[in-house]
Amino acid sequence: MNKIKTAILISGRGSNMSALIEAAKELDYPAEISLVISNKKDAAGIDVAKNEGIDTKIIEHKNFNSREEFDQALDQAIEEGGCQAVCLAGFMRLLSKEFTEKWSGQAINIHPSLLPEFKGATAVKDAFEAGAKKSGCTVHHLVHEMDAGKIIAQAEVDILQNDQLEDVAAKILIQEHKIYPEALKILCNQLNNAKK
Ligand code: GRF
Repeated sequence: MNKIKTAILISGRGSNMSALIEAAKELDYPAEISLVISNKKDAAGIDVAKNEGIDTKIIEHKNFNSREEFDQALDQAIEEGGCQAVCLAGFMRLLSKEFTEKWSGQAINIHPSLLPEFKGATAVKDAFEAGAKKSGCTVHHLVHEMDAGKIIAQAEVDILQNDQLEDVAAKILIQEHKIYPEALKILCNQLNNAKK
C-alpha cells in the first residue's frame, strides 16, 4: 500500500484535519498526513497536529504583498514536504489560478452545504435562514472558482422544525468527519492507480 503524502491547509480549529489524521492511522488507508499548514498563527489545529507528531508550518498571508506570492510560499512548502495531495480543511483563503491549476486533480476541499447550493463562507447559516429542509456537506476537487469543482462525496442532513442553527451545524460537522476521509481515500486510490 503506497501512502500518498498529503498536506492539509487549515485556518482554525481543524476538526476535519483531525478526522483525516485519525483515518490515516489505519495501515490500509492510502494517505499519510505529512504536513499541516495554517495561514493563521493562532489556529487551534496547529497544536493538535504538532501533538500528533506531524510537521506544521505557519505561513501568514498578511506577510505577503499579493495572493500569488502567498500561494507560491504555500506551494513551495507543499513541494518541500514531498506531498502529492492537498486537502483544504477550513482554509479561509481563495487560491490563485496558478495554484489551483498546478494542483488540479490533486487538491480537494470540504464545504458545509449540498453544493452547488449555498456556496460561500456562511453556507450553514444561509441554508438555515433560507428555510431549507435539507442541508449537508460536500467534498469536491479544488478549482479556481470558489466552492465549485467535481464532487467526490456528499452527505445530507435533515433540518427539522425545532432545529436551531447550532443543531444544524453540529449535524453537518458529524457528516463532514465521515465523508472527508472517504473522499481523500478515493482521491489517493485514483492517484495510486494512475501511477501503475
Ligand atoms: C467546516 O465546516 C468546513 O466545511 C468549512 O470550514 C469548517 C472547518 O471546520 N470549510 P474545521 O476547522 O475542520 O473544524
